[in-house]
Order: sequence, then C-alpha cells, then structure tokens
Amino acid sequence: MVKIGPIELSDFPLLLAPMEDVSDPPFRAVCKDNGADMMYTEFISSEGLIRDAMKSRQKLDIFDYERPIGIQIFGGDEEAMALSAQIVDAVNPDLLDINFGCPVKKVVTKGAGAAVLKDIDLMVRLTAACVRSTRLPVTVKTRLGWDTDSINISEVAERLQDTGIKALSIHGRTRSQLYKGNADWTHIARVKENPRIKIPIFGNGDIDSPEKALEYKNRYGIDGIMIGRAAIGYPWIFNEVKHFMATGEHLPPPDVGQRVEVIRKHLHKSIEWKGLVPGINEMRRHYNNYLKGLPNIKEFRLKLVTLRSVEEIDEVLDQINTAYTGFTFERRKIDMDSMAYSCG
Ligand SMILES: Cc1cc2nc3c(=O)[nH]c(=O)nc-3n(C[C@H](O)[C@H](O)[C@H](O)COP(=O)(O)O)c2cc1C
Repeated sequence: MVKIGPIELSDFPLLLAPMEDVSDPPFRAVCKDNGADMMYTEFISSEGLIRDAMKSRQKLDIFDYERPIGIQIFGGDEEAMALSAQIVDAVNPDLLDINFGCPVKKVVTKGAGAAVLKDIDLMVRLTAACVRSTRLPVTVKTRLGWDTDSINISEVAERLQDTGIKALSIHGRTRSQLYKGNADWTHIARVKENPRIKIPIFGNGDIDSPEKALEYKNRYGIDGIMIGRAAIGYPWIFNEVKHFMATGEHLPPPDVGQRVEVIRKHLHKSIEWKGLVPGINEMRRHYNNYLKGLPNIKEFRLKLVTLRSVEEIDEVLDQINTAYTGFTFERRKIDMDSMAYSCG
C-alpha cells in the first residue's frame, strides 16, 4: 500500500495530473468514476488566493466523493505561500500540493513554478513555509531541473523530503523542454533508487497507453503513475491501465453508449457547478475530445457546440447513441502533441 501521510492508497496508485482549465470538478467526477485513485485541482495562484480573486477561489471547490483530493498552489513568495496554505487548510482537502514545475512565461517570470528549480534554497523555504502553515500532508510536483545542464532533481528530492513533504511527483522533463521531446524517466528512477528517499515517488510524463504504463512501472520502479493528457476526453485510461496491469489483457474500448453517458455526466456536473449557461459553454471544448474516432461526426458536433438548451443537447446525445450503436472503436492512439499544454 502507498501512504501519503495518513492517506492510504492502493499498491500502485494512478493519479490524475493537475491540469489548468481541464481538471475542474466536472472533469474530475468522470475520472473518479473511471478509476483515478487520487486527483488534484488545477493550480491556484497563491497571490490570487490571498487577494481573494474569484477565479482562484472557485478552484478551491472540492467535493467529498472526490477524496482523496489535493489542492495545488504555486507562487514564489514565502508569506503568500504560507497564507495560501492556511486558506487551503480551511477548505479541508486531503493534501496540499505545491507546483514547482509550471514552465509558462507568465509564471516563471514571476519567480514561481519551474523558476524555483533554479534556487533550491528558495524552494526549501517556500515548501517549509507551507508545511508549517497547514496540518495537511504537503506534496510537491516538479520537473527534472531548469535545463539539461542543470538537472537537479536528486538534490531537490532529498532537500524537499527533509522539509517534511509526504510525496513527490516528477514530470520527466526540464523547464526548457516545455513539452518537447520525450520525458526521461531515468532521472525519476534514480530518485526512487536513492536509499535516502523514503517518501513515495510518482512518475509523470507521456503515459498514453496501458502497455506503456506497465512497462514504465516495471522499468523505473516508481510508486505510482500520474496521468495528464491521456485522460483528456478519455477518462477510461485509468481503469484500462489497472485492468492491463492486473490481467495482461486489454479492456475493450468504451462503446458509444458509455461515451455518451460520460459526456452527459460531464455536462450535467458542469452545469451543476458553473450554472446553466456557463456550464453549457464550458462543456463545448470537450466534445471533440470525447467523440474522436467516430466517422462523420461533424454535424452532430456542430450541434453540440451551438445549442443552448440542455434538453436539446441531451437529445443530440441520444441521436449519437442511436446512430453509432454497434460501432466498433479502434484502440485509441492519442496524439499527445496535439493536446493543449500549460502549467507543469
Ligand atoms: C492543459 C494542461 C494544463 C496543465 N496544468 C497544470 C497545472 O495546473 N499544474 C501542474 O502541476 N501541471 C499542469 N500540467 C502538467 C501536467 O500535470 C503533467 O505534468 C504534464 O501534462 C505531463 O504529463 P502527461 O504527459 O501525462 O500529460 C498541465 C498540462 C496540461 C496538458
């Protein structure tokens, strides 16, 4: 069993990666239904939280059925991080996660996200400030280093563990790589093999199939895997990986009925959480991902992204279900490069 402080997870947990503009409560609901063992919110600006900015506040919304759930924050200022940790504590998630991996300009130029990888002393101070300010277990998600000449994840892991963090997730890229090239898990394996490291180490980066998940589990010896892009429009990835790890066999791809049910749940959760009009609008960017692989879907999709009433959308979903009953989906090949990326 993998333990993060008091949180008990399975022997090899699968985590849903934090993803800005993606891993909101409606998306998390369908990932939870389909096997995600632990999930995180989108990253939340510590500065935004202490200013009480609406956008940051809303990202704190969590629900009991999501547990165990982590709230992720980022920032480069000790006091703001400490205050944010207190705000997060009051919301009572299962853990507080700190983002030291976001590569995007608007974050690193403010000395936050992956920029903190350039200054391990600062990273330690920011982390320690959070650990001191909350009773929650604190975890960190980061990258290998700033660039290939400064890969410092081994030292980062040891120093962060000494501050009292309870787990570390590592995306196997440097900041300068952004999302290019392949994630290099050999550095993650080295952290895991370090006899000084006692906390769980989760590997992250490029897992897009059950085979790859099993291969990386065996090859790199990590305690669990975090999956991001491969879950977008395809929350079934979690149970598919679990089934393959347990049996060596593939689950059949979800049929059109299962896909329509997940879309419906995502839509209705979106409306429940955001309100009718914003809920319908927010859902529009997801249909394409869910419906990939269906031939001649364009007309239906066009209706889904233009209709304004939930009854009409539900009706189109019924029509899709009927039109494609019996359709056999290929096993999914995802084009990871085409998924929108941002902060981690
Ligand atoms: C759209 C998008 C948004 C992201 N937002 C965050 C974020 O808010 N916090 C974070 O730590 N990482 C964020 N990331 C990075 C992911 O958590 C993950 O580290 C990265 O996508 C690599 O994993 P993958 O290959 O399984 O997608 C984001 C990635 C994507 C694609």
